[in-house]
Formats: sequence, structure tokens, C-alpha cells
Amino acid sequence: MRASFSSWHHSTSRTEFPQSPTAFSSLAHRFPTCQNESRTPSPTQVEVSLPIVGRRQRLDALHERLDALRPRNIGYPCNQDFDYEDLFPFLSYSINNVGDPFGSSNYRLNTQDFEREVVTEFARMTHAPANGWWGYVTAGGTEGNMYGLYVARELFPDGICYFSEDTHYSVAKILRLQHTRNIMLKSQPNGDGLQRPSRNPAHPP
Ligand SMILES: Cc1ncc(COP(=O)(O)O)c(C=O)c1O
Repeated sequence: MRASFSSWHHSTSRTEFPQSPTAFSSLAHRFPTCQNESRTPSPTQVEVSLPIVGRRQRLDALHERLDALRPRNIGYPCNQDFDYEDLFPFLSYSINNVGDPFGSSNYRLNTQDFEREVVTEFARMTHAPANGWWGYVTAGGTEGNMYGLYVARELFPDGICYFSEDTHYSVAKILRLQHTRNIMLKSQPNGDGLQRPSRNPAHPP
């Protein structure tokens, strides 16, 4: 989970955003900037449903494969040094923090009190002005980037977004989806700083 966090007040609810990850993945092939995104086989290339017989064996094999990879998976951008065992019992519930964590929800299986604590901690870490911030926990990095860029576009409809060529590819996708003018900047070969602006070929003027 990622926290999306904005240091100004506004009344936008997350329900205005496309919620379905599949809505994005089905568009992915239209975005030439997504070349570093790993490709998954299309449903026609894989056997979609697991046969009932053999399901246990397949899950055991998956478990074994992940366990073997675990000690060497130390980056991008997470490692495996965590223990979520305390959370296992909660996998038995369909928990959903629908809506604004600072509002109310008619879906009672929620953890919005925890969500409020998380965003409050982010507000503290980023020195957000007291009583001048809002945030929510997203399901992933793309949505966090999307929310930030959406708020930026609402505040500055004619603004131009500058981003480096090493910025996560989700940013180029989002900018295109929301029609934000943007310019991609070249990175230094060592990854530091930025060189002269270059036009984003994925988003010609
Ligand atoms: C900076 C950044 N943005 C976006 C993402 C995409 O995250 P997700 O696949 O959770 O949407 C990642 C993933 O590692 C990331 O590091």
C-alpha cells in the first residue's frame, strides 16, 4: 500500500477516480512509454482457470518458487524483510475502506481508523501545515502518482509537468490520460540531476 497525500484542503473524493486496475492494464498497449513495464501473456496465451484437481499442487509449487526467490529479492523498491503474520487473520474478511478516511462509510468492515493514523504519520513526516492537509492510503504507487497529478492539474489547469526520463512510467501514462501538458527531462548518465529539456516523444505538442 502507498499513501497518497496532499498538503492542501480540497473536497475531492477518491470515488471520482477510475478504481479498477484492469481499466488501466487494458489500455497499456496504447502507451509507447510503457516499454519497461513487464509484459504479461494475454488471457488467450495462458490457461486461465486452474483445474480443481491439481490446484493444491500448483499453489504448493508457487509457494516453493517464491520461497526460493525470497532471500535474493532485495530491491525494486521493496525487500522481503518483513513479517505480516499478525495480519493473517484479517485475510478472512473482505475489508474495504470505501471513500474518504475522514468521512463516514456505510461499509462497516473497514479500517479507516488505521488509515487516518497512517496519513497523519505521513503528514507529520512531511511537515504538512497543521489543519491544511488531507490524504488517503492507495492500493499502489500508480494511484498515488495519479492522485497527486490530478490535484496538481485541478489547481493549475494550464500548468506544465516536468519529469525526468527516469521517472516511473506510470507518470507518463497518467499525464497522457489526464491531458496534462508535460516535458520530459534527460537524466545525467550517473542518475543525478537533470540535463537540458527534451520533448516527450510520447506526448508531442
Ligand atoms: C515511484 C513509483 N511509482 C509507481 C509505481 C507503480 O506502483 P504500482 O504497481 O503499485 O501501481 C512504483 C512501483 O514500484 C514506483 O516505484
